[in-house]
Amino acid sequence: MTAGGPVTAGEGVRLLQPGRAPAPGREPLVLGIETSCDETGVGLVRGTTLLADAVASSVEEHARFGGVVPEVASRAHLEAVVPTIRRACEDAGVTLADVDAVAVTAGPGLAGALLVGVGAAKALAWALEVPLYGVNHLDAHVAVCVLDGGPMPTPCAALLVSGGHTSLLHVVDIASDVRLLGETVDDAAGEAFDKTARLLGLPYPGGPSIDAAAREGDPTAIAFPRGLTSGRDLARHRFDFSFSGLKTAVARWVAACEASGRPVPVADVAASFQEAVADVLTRKAVDACRAHGLEHLMLGGGVSANGRLRELLAERCAEAGVALRVPRLRLCTDNGAMVAALGAQVVARGLPPSGPGLGGDSSLPVETVLVGG
Ligand code: KG4
Ligand code: ZN
Repeated sequence: MTAGGPVTAGEGVRLLQPGRAPAPGREPLVLGIETSCDETGVGLVRGTTLLADAVASSVEEHARFGGVVPEVASRAHLEAVVPTIRRACEDAGVTLADVDAVAVTAGPGLAGALLVGVGAAKALAWALEVPLYGVNHLDAHVAVCVLDGGPMPTPCAALLVSGGHTSLLHVVDIASDVRLLGETVDDAAGEAFDKTARLLGLPYPGGPSIDAAAREGDPTAIAFPRGLTSGRDLARHRFDFSFSGLKTAVARWVAACEASGRPVPVADVAASFQEAVADVLTRKAVDACRAHGLEHLMLGGGVSANGRLRELLAERCAEAGVALRVPRLRLCTDNGAMVAALGAQVVARGLPPSGPGLGGDSSLPVETVLVGG
């Protein structure tokens, strides 16, 4: 809404329009809100510079259930969102009056959790008279790379590995043109980590637990299967992934071990499982770069915190002459900075803000970077 009068939400009318220009010579200050799962994140980004990244996590409230409980997550977001906005502003040394635009995760994610963030973002943008941008959580995981290395070298490939998604992307423009090359046909990589950790009796969330346990283990101890990497499977699914067979193989191996009365060598199983995941992800990502003539690869999503994945991907990219960019560890898992980073890219392109109908879309496709509403 511009200064000087109410805006009716008629057709073609944007409820939230640019309220004011940023100070001359300064890129707009974008506040990003993330509430798609169990982290309430608020980030502040100016251009490609990170000013604040405040996160309140409800992960401990879910741990005893072995997974995220949607209602618990929504309630935690409600309680955390205002204090987290306040903390981000304090950390950045700004006030809300300095904010030029608000970006928010509009999907994919848990429906109730998304609504808390979208509702908060709408209220904030309305009150501050600044534009609102509903953006895609998955693309935000990729866009966060701009905070560690500056503008994204495009076109590029992106390997997105999170708790609910595993995809290979061809990024023509992170704000407006993202194409899906392949994705998991069953479990996501993070899901495979979480389920395997549960099998091994390791605490939730499983990714960090397996990462830690694997450091003491032998990655060559057990030859676990690499899904969709040979024969007809590979031909049909060159850039797709499958991790459910791997999870089942681990379950069978552990059951056989227990049946024979031997103790389960947890570290070796964790290391061998992790090696199988990292091997497939890195092989296919490098293959996609080669096949599409892409010289740069971005890594994003919670699983990109994995030590072995980072190491093997760096090794294979170097061999293939692909320039790799990975987010710093803190920015791998869900946070508000990634949403602000993508919002800043959208603002820089001059794309139209989201309208008053903006809602949460739990299955928003990765190709939809910005939601109109
Ligand atoms: O991106 P994210 O924070 O949330 C979603 O958008 O899903 O990803 C969460 C996932 C979880 O499955 C978690 O186990 C996994 O990322 N993860 C890891 C590591 N840290 C988090 N997986 C492997 N190694 C890690 N160090
Ligand atoms: Zn995520």
